[in-house]
Amino acid sequence: MKLVKTVNDLQDYLHRLPGGKTVGLVPTMGALHRGHISLVKRALKENPVVVVSIFVNPTQFNDPKDLERYPRNLEADLQLLEEAGVTLVFAPAVEEIYPEPDTRKFNFGALETVMEGKHRPGHFNGVAQVVSKLFDLVKPDKAYFGQKDFQQLAIIKNMVQQLGLPVEIVPCPIVREKSGLAMSSRNELLSAEERKNAAVISETLFKAKELAGQKSVQELAEWMRETINKNPFLHVEYIEIVDETSLQPVNNRNEENTKVACVAAFCGKVRLIDNMVLN
Ligand code: PAJ
Repeated sequence: MKLVKTVNDLQDYLHRLPGGKTVGLVPTMGALHRGHISLVKRALKENPVVVVSIFVNPTQFNDPKDLERYPRNLEADLQLLEEAGVTLVFAPAVEEIYPEPDTRKFNFGALETVMEGKHRPGHFNGVAQVVSKLFDLVKPDKAYFGQKDFQQLAIIKNMVQQLGLPVEIVPCPIVREKSGLAMSSRNELLSAEERKNAAVISETLFKAKELAGQKSVQELAEWMRETINKNPFLHVEYIEIVDETSLQPVNNRNEENTKVACVAAFCGKVRLIDNMVLN
């Protein structure tokens, strides 16, 4: 496995690759866990060359404290990626990706006015900035994204369409801890007690799936909010039941579209998100 830290070295390496090999890209912000590794494994199955980027992208953090607190652990990350059999790791400094401030403004219409887009202004613009740069630098045939960040996936598919990029976006299922808690780099910021209680978020989503045929959409969302908020460690920021493709709220459970329940909740100071398909 090769580690490169500059755009020059990255391009040097990519240019030297023998032609005709497909390249899979897994963009990450590091502090890697089994969720990330599941994307890497899928990429390795489908491509002879797999590039993993590790870059904590400042432009997608709307809260400077969140950026400062974000866990970083390059040594451990490299070990996991080496064990998995990755070809190349790209771990640039901020100046490599943004030699000048990125002033591009993307427009994702209604996809960005709900949920994460609504509660984290500018977040998806930053995600689009960095992912479009990574696509431009690596020119992957396929890029792998987790359904854990369900709205991010929709935004990236939309960006690829808008920019007409020749990259296939591959969605990968959510990997959970034994307790059901969706794996996340941010889980490392939880105390042992918080981590135990955070599992109530996924428990509630699993129960919501069972109850989906019995309650109206509004009742179900209200029940989820109450159930999570009852836990003294947790505080719901939003609960939305949305259409899988448009991400717009579903009003009637009899609509035939695929419905996804999405949650953002604070566990102490740590903001967690999770989601589940209800039908
Ligand atoms: P990060 O949070 O590090 O996640 C990197 C990728 O791993 C994303 O596609 C995310 O959806 C996926 N992932 C995280 N936890 C997962 C889990 N439990 N199961 C399955 N997949 C999971 O998402 C980002 O970084 C950034 O926004 C990025 C796309 C790298 C742009 O900076």
